[in-house]
Amino acid sequence: MNAEDIAGWLRCEDRRKLEELWERADRVRRDTVGDDVHLRGLIEISNFCVRRCAYCGIRAPNTHVTRYRITDVEILDCADKAVELGYGTVVLQAGEDDGLTRDWVVELVRAIKERTGLAITLSLGERPTGDFVAWRKAGADRYLLRFETSDHDLYDRIHPPRPGQEGDRFSRLRLLRDLGYEVGSGVLIGIPGQNFDSLAVDIALFAELDLDMIGVGPFIPHPETPLGREPSPPVADQVPATDAMAYKVLALARLVCPESNIPSTTAIATLDPDGGRATGLSRGANVVMPNLTPDRYRVLYEIYPDKSVLSETSDVCRTDLNAQLLELGRRPGRGPGNRTGK
Ligand code: 5AD
Repeated sequence: MNAEDIAGWLRCEDRRKLEELWERADRVRRDTVGDDVHLRGLIEISNFCVRRCAYCGIRAPNTHVTRYRITDVEILDCADKAVELGYGTVVLQAGEDDGLTRDWVVELVRAIKERTGLAITLSLGERPTGDFVAWRKAGADRYLLRFETSDHDLYDRIHPPRPGQEGDRFSRLRLLRDLGYEVGSGVLIGIPGQNFDSLAVDIALFAELDLDMIGVGPFIPHPETPLGREPSPPVADQVPATDAMAYKVLALARLVCPESNIPSTTAIATLDPDGGRATGLSRGANVVMPNLTPDRYRVLYEIYPDKSVLSETSDVCRTDLNAQLLELGRRPGRGPGNRTGK
């Protein structure tokens, strides 16, 4: 499928044709990665951030955020919880926080590995090469860094670089791959100024980058951000930031990258709280990332408002989730859930 075909699907409003897309994505998912749904325990370890992304609620200039860093002891408790719940992976996510020093993360990764043997995914932003090298050596398995959009002008508008640094996420993704990480990336859907053709190019790029993991979700305006505050001038062919559009992107991601691990994301479930997670799983997704962040921190990790499952405890998540998976004819995956077919 080329970018033009993808754009055609993104524009498609014909219900019957879309049913075909959902069925194809579900079939390809079943034939390649099977019925296992891999569960990744998400731990939001810090909401400090030096960046000024125009869409994100924890951007540095937002002074209304109470900032936190979880202690290593608390993180290890969360990792124990992941083991107890039968998850194969923990995902450590944070804003771009220089307070999380290279050595501290090294020790943390080693401690989690030693104690639990879980696969470890890091999602800590654009860090210096030496950090990526040291963390990989310490035992980190995967790294998530969304490129958000491949449209240069749009990217520059919403994602100012750190002073004195080039903001090229593609070179960081290549580096991560060369270091032996499984690499995940993805995009925001419906960023003001994003048109269908540019989103189609993004999706075609998923295949070109040979991504191991693909995370996508609708843009959700946050009132304490430039993109959430000021109504943007309409652009021709603007991609709507809707759950309907997110399902299309998810299904297309599955078709262009049949073997990738693709989560049914929280942002989709936020726009479609009743059925979002299940619908994602039946339209291409094979991963869920239940949130293990302790409640008192979780409410502070507000990258967008009303983040779904905000008030769910992990135990509630577990019962609901297992029932949901059974109902869908799926089952929780065992083991780390590495990318298949490589
Ligand atoms: N709406 C939706 N997703 C967002 N993210 C950040 N801010 C928002 C928002 N307002 C996503 C970005 C980032 C990921 C961790 O969260 O795509 O890469």
